[in-house]
Amino acid sequence: MSNTILIGAQWGDEGKGKIIDVLTERADWVVRAQGGNNAGHTVEVGNERFVLHLVPSGILHEGKRCVIGNGVVLDPAGLVEEIRGLEARGFPAAGRLFVSDRAHLVLPYHRSLDARGEALKSASGKIGTTLRGIGPAYGDKMARTGLRTGDLLDPAFPDLLRERIDAHNRTLAALGGEPLDPAAVIAGVEAAIPTLAPLVCDTLPLLHEAAARGEEILFEGAQGVMLDIDLGTYPYVTSSNAVSGGACTGSGFPPNRIDRVVGVLKAYTTRVGEGPFPTELSDADGEALRAAGREFGATTGRPRRCGWFDAVVARHAAMSCGVDGWALTKMDVLDGFDRIKLCVAYELDGLRIDTFPANIRAAARCKPVYEEMPGWKTPLGAIRTFDALPPAAQAYLRRIETLTGVPVRILSLGPRRDQTFDLP
Ligand code: GDP
Ligand code: IMO
Ligand code: MG
Repeated sequence: MSNTILIGAQWGDEGKGKIIDVLTERADWVVRAQGGNNAGHTVEVGNERFVLHLVPSGILHEGKRCVIGNGVVLDPAGLVEEIRGLEARGFPAAGRLFVSDRAHLVLPYHRSLDARGEALKSASGKIGTTLRGIGPAYGDKMARTGLRTGDLLDPAFPDLLRERIDAHNRTLAALGGEPLDPAAVIAGVEAAIPTLAPLVCDTLPLLHEAAARGEEILFEGAQGVMLDIDLGTYPYVTSSNAVSGGACTGSGFPPNRIDRVVGVLKAYTTRVGEGPFPTELSDADGEALRAAGREFGATTGRPRRCGWFDAVVARHAAMSCGVDGWALTKMDVLDGFDRIKLCVAYELDGLRIDTFPANIRAAARCKPVYEEMPGWKTPLGAIRTFDALPPAAQAYLRRIETLTGVPVRILSLGPRRDQTFDLP
């Protein structure tokens, strides 16, 4: 038995969906435990491309069961749309997708407040959220004023929702926003209930009974460590715990039942939205990374900011998540570079530091200290063993292991399932 937490080790979009898809082969259950439909996880199967937002990527493997855990914030209309889209492509949710009755709802007023909040911030204060209502929904959860998925099944739900709409309309009006029409909001949410009601249950005993039978559980992290509400580049973060601990609090599956943590690590760095990014490139190399890596957001389509590999960030992820092994992705994107840089430390106000500063203004002043390595100038996409990698690519991978103190266990050299192999 092996219960695995998979996390994103940078600012999201490391290739978690693809690695989950590969690891699902050996698992029985795939669980999302935090975030919401701000996530966009891409899986390529044959000539087909799927982007999953709320439904665990394991749904694409027949017979595997999927859970949306209590730590997720769930947009009912968004989830129904995703379920319908998957059904139309031959992946029905019935009997395979279970949604925690404790998961909080993202409601239309959360999306309005997200947009209004961003619009009111100064240019330098904007977070660049996905506008999916994630922050306001987690805000309600923490303020103990949220509605949960289980409430959808309560006869009192329309009244509870109306009360919340009225309260949020007052806030929206105070912020200069447009109040929402309560009847339209209630009708919209109620339209999702027939599809969602059969999936909603207490997922806690489900996972514990599965584990007792020796079935394997895979936790699909969303976002990345640097977007974690506690350990990321606050306030330029999302509103949930993307570190490995979030998988436990977000599912009710305890830490002492977890066997390993896999960190998904891109061979370079990207970020969508605002906030400090020490190795960001605003030159031709950055453009080349964006073009070769097709770095455009899977949820919002925004161009991703691109930069060199940052070992300070990777070490931060290794520490805060207890990463046992990396799944290193997208090394093939570096195929065309003559020289490749790795950031090994930062220079902050004239001093060398090798950990990520908590203070956001200090983080913005950090200058990367680079090492340079020769590129391999060979396409890697068809390679399936470590020994077949060109020596320069082997050296780059080994250097990442040394700089982070964590071995690479899985190597991904393209978006497809078959472009992946284990390292001894
Ligand atoms: P996630 O949010 O972590 O699941 O990542 P995204 O799906 O948002 O972005 C990762 C992108 O890289 C997707 O378009 C994947 O199809 C693609 N991808 C994943 N692994 C690899 C890889 O090893 N090489 C290349 N070239 N693309 C990859
Ligand atoms: P996956 O799971 C990349 C970023 C947004 C923004 C910040 C806050 O696909 O890796 P939010 O809407 O969550 O309040 O936005 O977090 N962000 C992501 N960036 N990948 C993601 O998910 C992200 N989810 C949120 O761009 O900077
Ligand atoms: Mg993504």
